[in-house]
Amino acid sequence: MNVIETYNLSKYFKEKKAVDNLNLQVEEGIVFGYLGPNGAGKTTTIRLLLNLVRPTRGSAIVLGEDITKSKNYLRKIGFLPDVPNFYNYFTPREYLEFFADILNVDKKRIDEVLEIVDLKREKRRIGTFSRGMKQRLGIAQALIHNPSLLILDEPTSALDPQGRKEILDLILSLKGEKTIFFSTHILADVERVCDRVGILKEGKLLLNDTIDNLKKKYSRRTLYIEVDNPQKLFIKLKEFPWVESLSLSNKNGILVKIKDMSLPQREIPRIIFQEDLFLFKFEFLEPSLEDIFLEVVS
Ligand SMILES: Nc1ncnc2c1ncn2[C@@H]1O[C@H](COP(=O)(O)OP(=O)(O)O)[C@@H](O)[C@H]1O
Ligand SMILES: [Mg+2]
Repeated sequence: MNVIETYNLSKYFKEKKAVDNLNLQVEEGIVFGYLGPNGAGKTTTIRLLLNLVRPTRGSAIVLGEDITKSKNYLRKIGFLPDVPNFYNYFTPREYLEFFADILNVDKKRIDEVLEIVDLKREKRRIGTFSRGMKQRLGIAQALIHNPSLLILDEPTSALDPQGRKEILDLILSLKGEKTIFFSTHILADVERVCDRVGILKEGKLLLNDTIDNLKKKYSRRTLYIEVDNPQKLFIKLKEFPWVESLSLSNKNGILVKIKDMSLPQREIPRIIFQEDLFLFKFEFLEPSLEDIFLEVVS
């Protein structure tokens, strides 16, 4: 089942197409990374999904409801905005009591969520908190009514490496229990915790696939070869149309990016033999998400 489905969802601000014909599906139970540079339209998408702005055109089904017709689904969503506001003079418990009251949630739930975000023994006021602790408290607040969908807008962006790690670990700990949709401009975050990634640029979705599929699709395209005379092989390989790019790496290595796998797999060993080279290594490299990202975005 899909928790989020959008159909040509668009939001234009005058001429600016902040979100442009977005068709997105987010399956129940997954961690979805919504990746894109600043200004790509991530926050606008989230605001559309949360019914905070009206689509210019298109529509979306969130948790089975048409967002242009109903607001009931919002009760099943927990949301952490990109710049959360806190009442600095509250302790975490007081702060959550405030929301538990508003949302009519049993006070027992406060202990549960404080435990989840590891703030149970924290008695200080929020004003003294690190950014990472504040983000964790923000997630506790988003979880207070036990929503099935969690939407987090750039939860790691303002954090130092330690704070980022804490938030990503927290997301991982919720995996399976909740569907998590989070936006980020940090590739490494997506690589660490997401099942699926959507890459957004200038309001348009460039790609939406599982991390596993992406790696499969883009792998077997880069070869790492080590021979006794890599310069000689480099000059030879330059002639072939199936070579996309070549670069010498460390002492004996060459990185060969190829356009089509079938030919090179037979051809390269033959060339190595013909050139009387001594072969040390011949392997396909697993691409990083960064390689894929750069390829897709450029
Ligand atoms: N209320 C608004 N009025 C005019 N332009 C806006 C408004 N909100 C966002 N935009 C523009 O839409 C684009 C996408 O913004 P946003 O969704 O905030 O991107 P992101 O969250 O990916 O950084 C940006 O160019 C931004 O300036
Ligand atoms: Mg944003």
